Amino acid sequence: MSVTVIVGGQYGSEGKGKIAAYLASQFAMSIRTGGPNAGHKFIHAGAVYQLQTLPCALINPYCQLAVGAGGVIDLDILLREIEVFGIGPGRLVIDPQASVIHTDYIAQEVALVRSIGSTGKGVGIAVAEKISRSGKAILARDVPKLSSYLGDVALLARNICKQGKNVLLEGAQGFGLSLHHGQYPYVTSRDTTAASICGEAGIGVRDVEDVVLVVRTYPIRVGGNSGPLLDEIDWDFVTRASGSATPIIEYTTVTKRVRRVGRFDLNQVVRAAFINSATQIALTFADYIDCSNSRITRRITLRPAHLSSLPISKHRPTFQ
Ligand code: IMP
Ligand code: MG
Repeated sequence: MSVTVIVGGQYGSEGKGKIAAYLASQFAMSIRTGGPNAGHKFIHAGAVYQLQTLPCALINPYCQLAVGAGGVIDLDILLREIEVFGIGPGRLVIDPQASVIHTDYIAQEVALVRSIGSTGKGVGIAVAEKISRSGKAILARDVPKLSSYLGDVALLARNICKQGKNVLLEGAQGFGLSLHHGQYPYVTSRDTTAASICGEAGIGVRDVEDVVLVVRTYPIRVGGNSGPLLDEIDWDFVTRASGSATPIIEYTTVTKRVRRVGRFDLNQVVRAAFINSATQIALTFADYIDCSNSRITRRITLRPAHLSSLPISKHRPTFQ
């Protein structure tokens, strides 16, 4: 059995999609949980991929793709991704108990967009309906257009592991957005830790070999009233610090708002590392420390000397 979980260590947008795509060739199956409020982006062979439902490991044509029982589906978004990437029923398996967003849910989240910077995709309402057990929740098994994709994701993962092959769980959002461990109410509608991702996918925690915690040199939060961000700076600061000749500025994949940016919060990352049982850290956006790093296109092992140039916040870690 070898399961790897990719989790975000900050407030999302750490580059989990990039890391999933980078590691894709090592996995026979990849399971996505969470919902379309998370956009995962990477560039492969010159093409830009932006995925909100399918796992980024789809670039490995031999990788079985899945959406777990704890996943949340926007039918239009999923069907578009299926069509664009030509994904047939054999290639993609959706757990019958994954949630499906009703279009009314999106209207019900309009106030949340302003109050907590929600992406307003209806994910939270879909989760709430499922939890309420009122009989109103829509599950994947209720949607005729999904019938040919339904299957037992947990059993499939188990069988793949029993054959000695590897399974990748692609987590969504980040540790700081966790419903339980983030700064409530500025959080998403699920717990984003590795253990919860296993639960959503149907994987036993003892089957996990690696947890890759993806962290950025400068954490971001989406634009708007999206909650606390320690030592918040702006994109001019990042541009100057990196020595980049062209301005650095980021927009959120899903909402297209200018992102907020802060200094590296070591306290948050250390806490994320132990609550997620991280075995590896993938550091992304190294070019924001020094724009000459943009020439690095492969994995390098960080040494203490590299870390000394991290833009660490003055706040000292309280978790060791
Ligand atoms: P919601 O999950 O869309 O309701 O958003 C709740 C909070 O989590 C808001 O601050 C969102 O901006 C943030 N959030 C949700 N998903 C993502 C993501 O994938 N990346 C970054 N922020 C996210
Ligand atoms: Mg994202």
